[in-house]
Amino acid sequence: MNTSLSPSGRLAGLSPASPEEIAAQMVAAAVWAPSVHNTQPWWFRAGGQEISLYADVSRQLRLADPAGREMMISCGAALFTARLALRSLGYIPETRVLPDQGQPSLVARVGWQRRADPAEYEQRLFGWVRQRRTHRGGYGPLPLAPELLTALQAGAARDGALLRIITGEGSKAALAAVVETAERAMRLDAAYVQELARWVSPPGSTRADGVPATAYPARPDRTDPYFPGRDFAHGRGWGLPRFSFAAASPSAGVVCLLTTEADRPGDWVNAGQALQRMLLASATCGVAAALHSQPLELPWLRDYICAHWCDGAYPQLLLRLGTVAQAAASVRRPPGSVLVTSGGEPPGAGHD
Ligand SMILES: Cc1cc2nc3c(=O)[nH]c(=O)nc-3n(C[C@H](O)[C@H](O)[C@H](O)COP(=O)(O)O)c2cc1C
Repeated sequence: MNTSLSPSGRLAGLSPASPEEIAAQMVAAAVWAPSVHNTQPWWFRAGGQEISLYADVSRQLRLADPAGREMMISCGAALFTARLALRSLGYIPETRVLPDQGQPSLVARVGWQRRADPAEYEQRLFGWVRQRRTHRGGYGPLPLAPELLTALQAGAARDGALLRIITGEGSKAALAAVVETAERAMRLDAAYVQELARWVSPPGSTRADGVPATAYPARPDRTDPYFPGRDFAHGRGWGLPRFSFAAASPSAGVVCLLTTEADRPGDWVNAGQALQRMLLASATCGVAAALHSQPLELPWLRDYICAHWCDGAYPQLLLRLGTVAQAAASVRRPPGSVLVTSGGEPPGAGHD
């Protein structure tokens, strides 16, 4: 994040807030980060001029995500958002990312002492934290500006990740086939189906986590090439009326892989930070992202992607980017339910 002081050294229009207010605002923003199946696998402890972010292991997907990789990516996205909120308040985040051998669920600590005006682009990114939505469908035919893709790649590099744009039609088709293979395998596996079902809610539900019926189309697009989405509705007809294109085969968009050099929990957190940076930067340009983590949850398909498209690096997410009008809506738990002050007990059960 850009943390340079303004030439005047003053913070235009930003009055200092109490540590409690700052922590509350950081968490109020962070909860809007994306997370696998909207599990929101995080909680925060505030104390003094610092917050600690923990993974809520009771929300980990035991079958799809036994190592906690997607949980940590989700927490990384929340971490980036908390840092961005701090910047929007005119503070410079001092971030320490795990590991802490004694506390495996501790993801990061973020402190703040010094102040500096937020840069204009930080304000713009922050403006999209609540509005950004995951897209689940096809895109229009317009290509994305090469400058945007270059900027997204530079952004990912700042968080220690690499954004690989898949350019060849053959490679795109092959990756689509890998996603379809994964999706078929998961739909045939009763345990996978059950785990996903636990994070899907019926229309009209007031549940504040999981994937609501307002977040995906009732009739999914058949993109060209075909990247099938998750089977959230499971034949129950849930979902939004068509909000994408009337075209029979809308574009799959720009296909990309977010990778990291190593595959440790700290790399997963970095991937999550890079993910949220790129999702928000895309959103500021009217570009939405569809996320396909299905093949990365099956070790044999993850290995296949790793061997063919990653030059020895580790694939953390497969995405499609494009321009589309979105109608999707999502839900979040109230920030107060995931924030404890120092000395307090972690919310919910299942924490280490
Ligand atoms: C690690 C990770 C993996 C994800 N995988 C998928 C996926 O395979 N399919 C999908 O539709 N959404 C996927 N998502 C998006 C989440 O479902 C989404 O972030 C969540 O439902 C909240 O909705 P929002 O992003 O619109 O706020 C993934 C998100 C993360 C962070």
